[in-house]
Amino acid sequence: MTRPSNPVGVGDTAITGIDGAHGVLTYHGYRIEDVVAHRDYEAVAGLLLWGPRHDSPPDRDVASELRSRRSLPPTTEQVLDALPKDTPPIDGFRTVVSAMNDVARVYPPTVEESLDLIARSPTLVARLYHRSNGTRPVEPDRQLGHVANYLWMVEGILPTPERARALERYFILLADHGISASTFALRIVLSTRSDLASAVSAALGALKGPLHGGAPPEVLEMLDAVGSIDQVEPWIDRLLEERGRLFGFGHPIYRVEDPRATLLRKFAKEVAAPDRYALARRFEEVALERLALRRPDHRLFTNVDFYGAVLLEAVGLPRALFTPTFALARTAGWSAHALEQVAQNRLVRPPERYIGPPPRTWSDQA
Ligand code: ACO
Repeated sequence: MTRPSNPVGVGDTAITGIDGAHGVLTYHGYRIEDVVAHRDYEAVAGLLLWGPRHDSPPDRDVASELRSRRSLPPTTEQVLDALPKDTPPIDGFRTVVSAMNDVARVYPPTVEESLDLIARSPTLVARLYHRSNGTRPVEPDRQLGHVANYLWMVEGILPTPERARALERYFILLADHGISASTFALRIVLSTRSDLASAVSAALGALKGPLHGGAPPEVLEMLDAVGSIDQVEPWIDRLLEERGRLFGFGHPIYRVEDPRATLLRKFAKEVAAPDRYALARRFEEVALERLALRRPDHRLFTNVDFYGAVLLEAVGLPRALFTPTFALARTAGWSAHALEQVAQNRLVRPPERYIGPPPRTWSDQA
């Protein structure tokens, strides 16, 4: 007897709740607005990893554990040093992570390996940045929190608390977003009982694309191309006539504004240069108006990447680090999804629909 076909997708998750119809986003049930107002990134990483019963795990101090795991092991450094000097940081991140032999090469991944991934990735990205930039690497500083230390390693100067907190808010808001394209890629790889390093490398490959985590630098390219407020309308009209995409708008799930976009608009305004914010705001107004005119039946809204990009620029990060920074924030979510996937693992085989020709014969005479 043939077994009935039983394709397996990735559907159930208890980590991040997204109500796209009402614009509600929660981490283990906690509203994102409360999380970003009252917690730091380390606490959010602990919440995502350990789940709703323990906002911080009872017997572990996540902040100090992350602090103590920041250095890169020598084998990781060897792979990093073998890369061509001009390797973009996002490509270096994807390549070196796959060779991080202390970030699990065995199945299943553990919490320890997840903490190593979250803690070491900023060090790796900062090293890749300095390598591509021809500048000297900066060692991690154990006195600083996770996000402030990342800024320190990139710039080599102590960040002001305002800049560090602005970037930390971005990290918190980007820490997880359900089974997005990159998280789906991660979970598919783990479903084959492959290892965490391979899964994160796949996730980084998916995140890099401009329709996902590659969107933030594209947002700034758009704003630069527009140049001034009086050019916003003709520029957007031209782009839409040519069937171009407006980066930072639209989302597969949200049918109202993404709550992260609402928050990031406010946070970006606090740190951005007034002229830059004014240009972004005008661009957003015209973009939403024109998109609504084109498709009144299918409204599109500002997504997380539009003001995310404005905030990252205001904090002073170079554009080459925008997508890697998105990925650094997401290492907490990817780790949580890795643990959730292996706890209930079945090989993922998405349902498919064959739309090719019916069975036919291939003979010499045909
Ligand atoms: N600019 C112009 N047109 C758009 C945009 C946009 N930003 N977004 C969607 N559309 C168009 C689509 O081309 C489509 O048109 P069509 O029916 O004539 O082909 C129509 O609107 C409907 O698209 P949706 O079904 O709403 O969008 P979809 O789910 O296919 O894509 C996506 C979502 C990829 C995010 C899209 O909105 C987009 O390309 N946005 C710009 C890139 C971006 O900002 N990406 C980051 C998103 S956040 C994240 O990381 C996932």
